[in-house]
Amino acid sequence: MKDISTAPFLKKMCSTASNMYRLGWDERNGGNISLLLDESEVSEYIDTIRVIRTIPTGFRADSLIGKYFLVTGTGKYFKNVEGDPENNLGIIRIAEDGTTAELLWGYSDGGKFTSELPSHLMSHMARLSVNPENRVIMHSHPTNTLAMNYVHELDEKKFTHTLWEMCTECIVVFPDGVGVLPWMLCGTNEIGMATAEKMKEFRLVVWGMHGIYGAGKDLDETFGLIETVEKAAQIYMLTAHLPRKNTIKDSEMQELAEYFGVDYRKDFLNL
Ligand code: 13P
Ligand code: ZN
Repeated sequence: MKDISTAPFLKKMCSTASNMYRLGWDERNGGNISLLLDESEVSEYIDTIRVIRTIPTGFRADSLIGKYFLVTGTGKYFKNVEGDPENNLGIIRIAEDGTTAELLWGYSDGGKFTSELPSHLMSHMARLSVNPENRVIMHSHPTNTLAMNYVHELDEKKFTHTLWEMCTECIVVFPDGVGVLPWMLCGTNEIGMATAEKMKEFRLVVWGMHGIYGAGKDLDETFGLIETVEKAAQIYMLTAHLPRKNTIKDSEMQELAEYFGVDYRKDFLNL
């Protein structure tokens, strides 16, 4: 068995959490990440027969039975993940009943997976149904994205349009736009179901006055999606109170999307 601290998936999870912390997206225990792993990569590092504990999830995830996830722990601080991954992260497998997580590694102080597991696993199911390559669900509280929630209408078309206008490359990076949910109670199956419903259509979902969810094929792609939204939100927050002299026109956004060959939400432009 190889030493898990050398596993590329673990190292990447650690550096991603550190970067998110460093950027101010994940204060205290804010944010959570789940990464779908292949059995073959997990079994190089841990004995998958040995279940440390079983933990009920409180919801059904039948299409994920037998699947392995590396998941941040509830109440754990992103700033501490890199220094002590075995305490702050866990590897779980969804058991045969579809409602139990089998802990195979991690949460070493007796902890458990993020309180947002419903949103993570339900979003994994939703994304996998439209894109079998999806492996990551990421939640965080990026400062400017959150600030924008207080001063901008929480309307999907308007919110996406404003972000697209803020940086030339936005429409190319997230042509599918940003889904928006109103404020909802976090940590519940209800917000999980609402997030997953949006995830069938969007790889980015804003949780009103709370934060954002991203989905992607790997940690870098998902991080990059949230990073690009956050950059656009920062430009918005730096300029929203100033007279606007210039803007990227809708016809120019269309030109960009067509030049780069991305499938964009045409109904989110006013052409
Ligand atoms: P957890 O510590 O349970 O992951 O919760 C953090 C968070 O951001 C809740 O939305
Ligand atoms: Zn949160």
